[in-house]
Amino acid sequence: MSIDRIAVVGGGTMGNGIAHVFALSGREATIVDLNQDVLDESLSTIEANLTRQEKKDRISTDEKDAALDRIRTSTDIADGVAEVDLVVEAVSETMEVKASVFQQLDEHAPDHAILASNTSSISITALGAETSRPQQVIGMHFFNPVPVMKLVEIVRGLVTSDDAYETVEALAEDLGKTPVEVEDYPGFVSNRILMPMINEAIFCVMEGVASVEDIDTVMKLGMNHPMGPLTLADFIGLDVCLNIMEVLHNELGDDKYRPCPLLRRMVIAGKLGRKTGAGFYDYD
Ligand code: 3HC
Repeated sequence: MSIDRIAVVGGGTMGNGIAHVFALSGREATIVDLNQDVLDESLSTIEANLTRQEKKDRISTDEKDAALDRIRTSTDIADGVAEVDLVVEAVSETMEVKASVFQQLDEHAPDHAILASNTSSISITALGAETSRPQQVIGMHFFNPVPVMKLVEIVRGLVTSDDAYETVEALAEDLGKTPVEVEDYPGFVSNRILMPMINEAIFCVMEGVASVEDIDTVMKLGMNHPMGPLTLADFIGLDVCLNIMEVLHNELGDDKYRPCPLLRRMVIAGKLGRKTGAGFYDYD
């Protein structure tokens, strides 16, 4: 099946990055969000990131302008998904919100449309069960910053069809990404490995093993990570990190996934990382 028109539901960091790469690949992309301010912010972020790529000679001015022309926005989900071949849901990571979005997508998207989720940890099988087409529900897990990061985890729910899988795999390759097939287990592969590492770095802070800066330096210079784990936690958002650790802990039932108490306290204090101006580091 050819995927020419898509919608992204949720205009936050991941949503705008996803719309960016689809539009650059020549597809019509509609960003849907209830909040017009989020949509306006999303468009200006995409324009800024396309300009960054243009200035680095990664894309031409014509490619940038054409990509921007292919993006539209809507505050009405029924209108935004009415004529698409694929929807990528990128709303907040709570089952209640995602379940409601999938019910609406099932109602308003064309019968042939594939319904994908960019969830970082919620079960694709559970999202599929909210629809009458679970065989067309799949995970398409992108990484931040989406225009730069090459990986897409493609998550098969228990009843996701081979057709849907093969269509989404070919699509990810066409976007210039490297797809990896994963089964529907908590945290998939990426967050099952990444989040316990970040959580352990936070235990090191809490226990005074080393300073925040030195913990990051160990992982950057000793393991060649582009960002240290605490910088990365601030980049992802500490609320997102806590949420994923809770999913791993609750669903796998092993104490090795217990969230660090310092992580909990920072989230309660509203120190969520870059997006709130403070986390392990301060951002002006
Ligand atoms: N849009 C477009 N291009 C961007 C961009 C964006 N938002 N952000 C960075 N770039 C480009 C830059 O223009 C630059 O391009 P060039 O190669 O042509 O010069 C290139 O990316 C590198 O950027 P910078 O030179 O500004 O900075 P760095 O070299 O420090 O790289 C980084 C920045 C790519 C963010 C790098 O620090 C990195 O890879 N960090 C780790 C990111 C990571 O681990 N992400 C995954 C998070 S986990 C996740 O998303 C899953 C979720 O479920 C939690």
